Amino acid sequence: MRVLTGIQPSGALHIGNYFGAIKQMKDLQNSSDLFIFIANYHALTSSKESGALKANTLDAAINFLSLGIDPNKSTFWLQSDVKEVLELYWVLSSFTPMGLLERAHSYKDKVAKGISANHALFSYPVLMAADILLYDSQIVPVGKDQIQHVEITRDIAIKFNNIFGDILTIPEFKVDENVATVPGLDGAKMSKSYGNTIDIFCSQKELKKATGKIVTDSTPLEEPKYYEDCNVFALAKLFLDEDGIEELKERYKRGGEGYGHFKIYLKELIWDYFEPARQKREYLLKHSDEVRDILRDGAKKARVIAVEKMEIIKDKVGILC
Ligand code: ADP
Ligand code: TRP
Repeated sequence: MRVLTGIQPSGALHIGNYFGAIKQMKDLQNSSDLFIFIANYHALTSSKESGALKANTLDAAINFLSLGIDPNKSTFWLQSDVKEVLELYWVLSSFTPMGLLERAHSYKDKVAKGISANHALFSYPVLMAADILLYDSQIVPVGKDQIQHVEITRDIAIKFNNIFGDILTIPEFKVDENVATVPGLDGAKMSKSYGNTIDIFCSQKELKKATGKIVTDSTPLEEPKYYEDCNVFALAKLFLDEDGIEELKERYKRGGEGYGHFKIYLKELIWDYFEPARQKREYLLKHSDEVRDILRDGAKKARVIAVEKMEIIKDKVGILC
């Protein structure tokens, strides 16, 4: 089963990203043929500072490798290293009705927010369709905001197949309903746009500061506390096994410890959990040439499929080879 996912290189990762997406990708490496790439051409639609885009791209690769994406278990590459994706993007553009793109929520939302639209932002879903269809992807795991993009991909592929026969694999999107929303410091969904995140690779001092800011009620230290709606508990739970969760519940119920104690405990849980990833990251930051090589090797594997697929597609649509 080929599962494909693209990651926008967009800065620091927080623990909501880890428990909401990255951990599932790690599991998928063991249970499927996982294709995973850094969508740097997509990021170009919103990033106009070349130094920042290059740095963010490398940073994203380093972060995902540090957190457990394993190039021996998955195909991990940089979108721009497989040039065939842009060829397919153009071919698919010729089979994409304007109305389909005009209905795209993410484009409409951005325009409504006053972001000045360029053509790439408008045709973003066609490049995403090319990403998916070039590799005969069967499943595309997505957050809810990306469902429509996979639906657009399906519409384009069905239209293409109606003309040329069964050439493109029609993908399915998969939203993991079991993934709980990780709360941020204020209890709302953790998100970079709300400024309520705990970043995975922050310093110990920053981690202490962030966990110290988690909103709690004001139950006095000696009294029992409700763990049910406590943000500190909800976050700590992510890092604990069943026994650990039971022990922490007991500590809440017993009283005699304040939220300050639980916050320090949480800080330690987070710090220890990501220690191996931090060490790997330290190493990769110093050996970015190795990271580039990993991405190139991944692209080589992905290109074998891409080149073959493009030959079939070009032949079908009438491009003389
Ligand atoms: P942000 O909201 O910080 O901009 P993104 O939209 O870049 O995060 O999310 C990247 C991935 O991480 C998506 O798959 C998304 O579903 C997941 N994710 C982000 N925040 C959370 C959260 N608080 N809880 C669970 N999953 C999350
Ligand atoms: N649009 C996706 C996002 O913003 C990133 C992406 C690009 C993608 N191409 C993809 C995701 C193909 C899945 C499949 O998160």
